[in-house]
Amino acid sequence: MLDAQHISHSFDGHAVLRGVDLRLGAGELVGLIGPSGGGKSVLLKILGNVLQATGGALRVDTESRSLMFQEGALFDSLTVFDNVAFPLVGGRVPLYTQPEDIQEQVRAKVSEILARVGLTKAAFKIPAQLSGGMRRRVSLARALVARPSVLLLDDPTAGLDPVASSVIMNLIVEMYNEYKPATLIVSHDLRRLLPIVQRVAALFDGSICFDGALDELAVFRHPHVQTFVRCRYEFA
Ligand SMILES: Nc1ncnc2c1ncn2[C@@H]1O[C@H](COP(=O)(O)OP(=O)(O)OP(=O)(O)O)[C@@H](O)[C@H]1O
Ligand SMILES: [Mg+2]
Repeated sequence: MLDAQHISHSFDGHAVLRGVDLRLGAGELVGLIGPSGGGKSVLLKILGNVLQATGGALRVDTESRSLMFQEGALFDSLTVFDNVAFPLVGGRVPLYTQPEDIQEQVRAKVSEILARVGLTKAAFKIPAQLSGGMRRRVSLARALVARPSVLLLDDPTAGLDPVASSVIMNLIVEMYNEYKPATLIVSHDLRRLLPIVQRVAALFDGSICFDGALDELAVFRHPHVQTFVRCRYEFA
């Protein structure tokens, strides 16, 4: 589905990624962990085709990919509804500028996903009128509305309180179970992330130093990874 081979990336001569190998098979749910500033967002942007890697190869067998950005990246001047409709109409919003039959189809899909994330009543607000947790649900709805076969979620619970974080993670699991997109989730919230993923990849020093199941991670002897994981997650 998605196969990153020896991906490298530098900004102004400063190497952030130094040969990342990562595969995401159809229907897999994988967690990506690693320290702040380690290049997880840069990697997701490369996998999501938002950024061109400096080196390496990326094979993807579908065009149906979507990236939920860490910073949300909502359009400030568009309503929640039009933010979510955006990928369905190739950015030709506001929706009322489109032919009536397209409006009908899009409206049905957007209304359905907004109901799923509990934002029906907020559909005609703009992002500035929403809380951080609501904005995150808008981003998630926008990433999911076209039912992409590859879903890249960059720290979907960052900065949220425990309840709002659980709401987001539960929604992700619910949507994943519904149609099983290949999903890669970046998160520092290991207590919520690790129990839901089938595999974990750890990005340290610019490359993937661990890629395997949770029980293998528990006994993995890399000093940085061990410290990083143990201070956030208690293995049973
Ligand atoms: N557009 C850019 N221009 C220059 N440097 C950048 C750019 N984007 C990211 N970087 C640098 O790349 C490095 C990796 O950043 P990145 O955002 O991918 O980290 P991260 O692993 O996502 O961290 P966090 O867990 O805090 O989100 C950082 O040193 C950052 O300053
Ligand atoms: Mg990041």
